[in-house]
Amino acid sequence: MIVLGIESSCDETAAAIVNDKKEILGECVLTQMEHKTYGGVVPEIAARSHLEHIEDILEQTFKKANLSPSDIDAVAAAAGPGLIGGVVVGVMAAKSLALALNKPFIAVNHLEGHALAARLTSDVEYPYLLLLVSGGHCQILIVKGVGDFERLGTTIDDAAGEAFDKVAKMLGLGYPGGPMIEKMAALGNEKRFVLPRPLQNSGDCNLSFSGLKTAVRKIIESYSPDNNIEHAILSKQDTADICASFQLAATESLVHKLQKAIVTFRTKYPQGKDLVVSGGVAANTYLRNRLKLLAETEGLKFSAPPIRFCTDNGVMIAWAGMERALKGMYNDLDFKPRPRWPLDADAPKAAGAGGVKA
Ligand code: KG4
Ligand code: ZN
Repeated sequence: MIVLGIESSCDETAAAIVNDKKEILGECVLTQMEHKTYGGVVPEIAARSHLEHIEDILEQTFKKANLSPSDIDAVAAAAGPGLIGGVVVGVMAAKSLALALNKPFIAVNHLEGHALAARLTSDVEYPYLLLLVSGGHCQILIVKGVGDFERLGTTIDDAAGEAFDKVAKMLGLGYPGGPMIEKMAALGNEKRFVLPRPLQNSGDCNLSFSGLKTAVRKIIESYSPDNNIEHAILSKQDTADICASFQLAATESLVHKLQKAIVTFRTKYPQGKDLVVSGGVAANTYLRNRLKLLAETEGLKFSAPPIRFCTDNGVMIAWAGMERALKGMYNDLDFKPRPRWPLDADAPKAAGAGGVKA
């Protein structure tokens, strides 16, 4: 079985072809640089850029795989959640190909792409405990199977990646902020600024990053003569120390809630062996190392996709498409792209812990 996957839900135009032997036959990712000047993704610009590049990306992917479109067995696309203008571009391309080739179409939830990516690159078995941390989402889930997720916790405000991006913006480090914060943090003293770990005593697995972001803002303001962060005078060391202290607080917040989630996971699924982290923020080596340590302490096996498959890519969509195709889970060509699409929406028995972010 060979599946083509297309990703266009944010600022990456990407495609990949994988087979059921877990081989990546061809892949192509284009990260849109147009958004850098705006300090964040501009939806209209993103949609136009996807439209401009999708054909070329598909052509290059088939070329790299040394395959022709008729060689594939199914076409998958990220059909949400995400910026709808971009999602529509990828979905339309996938539907057109499926129609022309008379092959099945698969609507993949972008988050399911992140969630299952580690199963392509590591030996991860259902059920597993997943920390999904990206620019738009931050959730702790039990992954019981394809399309079968149980949410244990979610952020009640900002996503983890969003917090990294906003802190980076305040410090003038550019977009996307995560990689820049990580780089600066490596030069800093994480103990210099004491930052809050919101919701630590809430008793559930929900997370919050908004208070942490505000605490960072207050520190930066204190370095400004008029309390305006744009006028803050920070040395490179100050910036590095803020980044390190923020990264520590964000990581410890996640680790603390995961510890709680592990107890629930163990009680419900004593046979579960794996702890997985995925999504753009999972590219952060500091976080990966802390989670690895947590897994070791708890007697779980830690897995994460290779760093380049943590941020948005076509491989994860192709692989989620493959898992669906192997179960015959296809979609009609009139499937409507979904700007919001909670992962546990289609679960056989949804048992989420509640929360506000999709
Ligand atoms: O999964 P992703 O590519 O897009 C979404 O689905 O949102 O995640 C992008 C997010 C951005 O917020 C970015 O700052 C963050 O992932 N990110 C990182 C790192 N690399 C990317 N955050 C922390 N450390 C990193 N090394
Ligand atoms: Zn993503």
